[in-house]
Amino acid sequence: MFRLAHISDIHLSPLPAPTLRELISKRITGYINWRSNRKGTMTGTTLDALLADIRELAPDHVAVTGDLVNLALDEELETARRWLQALGDPANVSVVPGNHDAYVPGAFDKVCRSWAPWMTGDGVNSPVDRNSFPYLRVRANVALIGVTTARATAPFMANGFFMEGQAERLGKVLDATAKEGLFRAIMIHHPPVRGAVSQHKRLFGISRFNKVIRRHGAELVLHGHSHLPSLFAIGPRGAKVAVVDRRWLLVGSMNMDGRSARSNTEVGLVIDSADLAEEALVLMNEYWSNSHYRLRLAERDQRVEWVAPDGDGTAVHRAEPYVSWFKRLRLGVMSMFIAEDLL
Ligand SMILES: [Fe+2]
Repeated sequence: MFRLAHISDIHLSPLPAPTLRELISKRITGYINWRSNRKGTMTGTTLDALLADIRELAPDHVAVTGDLVNLALDEELETARRWLQALGDPANVSVVPGNHDAYVPGAFDKVCRSWAPWMTGDGVNSPVDRNSFPYLRVRANVALIGVTTARATAPFMANGFFMEGQAERLGKVLDATAKEGLFRAIMIHHPPVRGAVSQHKRLFGISRFNKVIRRHGAELVLHGHSHLPSLFAIGPRGAKVAVVDRRWLLVGSMNMDGRSARSNTEVGLVIDSADLAEEALVLMNEYWSNSHYRLRLAERDQRVEWVAPDGDGTAVHRAEPYVSWFKRLRLGVMSMFIAEDLL
């Protein structure tokens, strides 16, 4: 078993006193904000306890999804570098930058230079820059893929950006690692989910990112930025959870087909608890209703339809979304020769 720890948005404290020259920028608003709100939120004690916990669990790898610093002052970047050094061997710690790490123009490049050992892909010798993302590190059967969304923004803004070039490169990395049969874990600072954070903090390129995931697949996406514990699902694949008659809850990795039941070494746990079943329904309705399709049988011909929220209404698909006509054709042909529960 591969054990992966995830830590994010540590905003290392205390903030060194900035010089007047350093304050003449977006930093002035950030400094006032830090003095009034953030000061003391992540004290050395909290962080020490967190690190002690991670050490005790002895994970195989640690993923750090950005915002290690506050105003990207030179001294902060150096403190963060030393903190990373203490965290572990750069081969076992992977970092992606957050908006605070790229707080002002020029900071992103400094971060790339200073934290390069933690942001360099396997077998890469060239310097780290914006174009070297996403980087890929393979550890055991896990592909750790680091995406950057960090960019200096206007005062009071904390947006992230996922643009076309990186989307294209990410698609290729996902395809290559899928061929190797690896578990693909993407690290990204901004949550690639609509509504996860307020407008001035949102990621530009959510649809683009989701399109890449739907088309090329990924098993796990780790994000930070929101400072909240949250769980979302993207695309047609995901956890297998079913609630039956508001009483039984099925959860696990097992596909609900005959082949998984007989041949695969996977788990499906059936829980007979109306309370838990009800909690799962609330979770599904509150958090997943906007990112999942609801299946139903069409009245006119009893064929399966995929229903998704679309603005104020719903969109109904008569064929499975994001499945190409070629795949449908292939499954159609295969179904003539192979029993349906073995497909
Ligand atoms: Fe952030």
